[in-house]
Amino acid sequence: MTEKPTNQLKNYRPYNLVAELTYKCPLQCPYCSNPTNYGETFRDELSTEDWARVFREAAALGVMQVGLTGGEPGARRDLPQITKAAADAGLFSMLVTAGTVFTKDKLANLRDQGLDSAQLSVQDSDPKNSDFIAGVPSFDKKMAFASWCHELDLPLTLNVVLHRLNLDHIDDILAMAKEIGAHRLEMANTQYYAWALENREALLPSAEQLERARAAAKQAKADNPKMEVLFIIPDYYSDLPKPCMGGWGSQVILISPTGKVLPCHAAEVIPGMVFDNVRDKSLSDIWRHSESFNRFRGTDWMVEPCRSCDRREIDYGGCRCQALMLTGDAANADPTCHLSSHHGIIVEARDAANSVAANSDTANGGAATRPPPEMIYRTWPPRGPRKAGTEPAGVSAT
Ligand SMILES: C[S@@+](CC[C@H](N)C(=O)[O-])C[C@H]1O[C@@H](n2cnc3c(N)ncnc32)[C@H](O)[C@@H]1O
Ligand code: SF4
Ligand code: SF4
Repeated sequence: MTEKPTNQLKNYRPYNLVAELTYKCPLQCPYCSNPTNYGETFRDELSTEDWARVFREAAALGVMQVGLTGGEPGARRDLPQITKAAADAGLFSMLVTAGTVFTKDKLANLRDQGLDSAQLSVQDSDPKNSDFIAGVPSFDKKMAFASWCHELDLPLTLNVVLHRLNLDHIDDILAMAKEIGAHRLEMANTQYYAWALENREALLPSAEQLERARAAAKQAKADNPKMEVLFIIPDYYSDLPKPCMGGWGSQVILISPTGKVLPCHAAEVIPGMVFDNVRDKSLSDIWRHSESFNRFRGTDWMVEPCRSCDRREIDYGGCRCQALMLTGDAANADPTCHLSSHHGIIVEARDAANSVAANSDTANGGAATRPPPEMIYRTWPPRGPRKAGTEPAGVSAT
């Protein structure tokens, strides 16, 4: 156990709990942040009672809000009971969903059990391209879900993960958010880990695409004071990293479907790290004392150039998982940092994305019209990845 001195812990309080209820999902997004080896996890998911206890423990630790997410949280039959348990624990709850497995009555029931808000992800404003990216026909169901939120008075965030196949539709995405009455529009450029890292070549946008989209989002913020508009820049186009999860083990707790407690979505990629389980220990014990939460908490763990850098308490060295995946060592500076000796990896990926753009339809300001040849979709049930265009029938690129 490598417990840090209390002065490292005393300023930290987990505000947000990410409750991954299941990795089951009917969609097949090639950017999905779920682990690529989600395998048979559905056989060992936490029970309703486990989640209820975890929510009480989280509230006692200071957690204010819980994201009920997955996979597809609606794939859990006990979602109404889980939702009620979150409300009973006094947590503000948000259903984070792709919106395809509900009816209006089911959603009304969740609201009656205490659900406070919903976040709906849509893959694109163009229905055909949205279905192509999701891997299955789903756009119409998503629009129905959005209208039910409006009718049921559930505050709605629209989430669109951005990449080279939809960035050129930014104006239509903004119009869609207005039309469906979203309170908040979150345009998050793809984070390249898990499935997205497998598909980076197909998904990484060009600088020109990104600049146009950024300008449109800025204008939209000014034009729509009633709707909160967020545009999150991709790490690959920023020379300074973001503080991943607000700093490792400082604000967020993520619990996987089988009960593993993680400081971030991808932490399991870091070899040799043991993640405690809520079945064996209390959340408070794990938050305070676990090897995994303390390993990269604060700044004591840092090596150069982070150790002596003025930004070390601003970005906490960026993303540990990105450092591991791209440099081979999770303790290195995130290679998106221009001071990292591995920054060339990022520049190379960026240059490749820009040279593809120069030779494709996206360079003309239109939407990407060619299906990327090597895109791999996640599938459920787990039966190995599939390549774009091989199945299911009827789903094709615009
Ligand atoms: C893993 S999903 C689970 C919930 C639900 N299946 C959905 O997609 O909305 C949780 C959130 O992460 C977003 N997301 C997934 N992969 C991402 C990535 N690589 N980068 C940024 N956001 C991502 C989704 O759009 C969604 O808002
Ligand atoms: S495949 Fe898509 S819809 Fe399903 S969990 Fe992943 S991001 Fe969400
Ligand atoms: S050297 Fe480390 S702390 Fe400094 S900006 Fe880069 S990643 Fe952040």
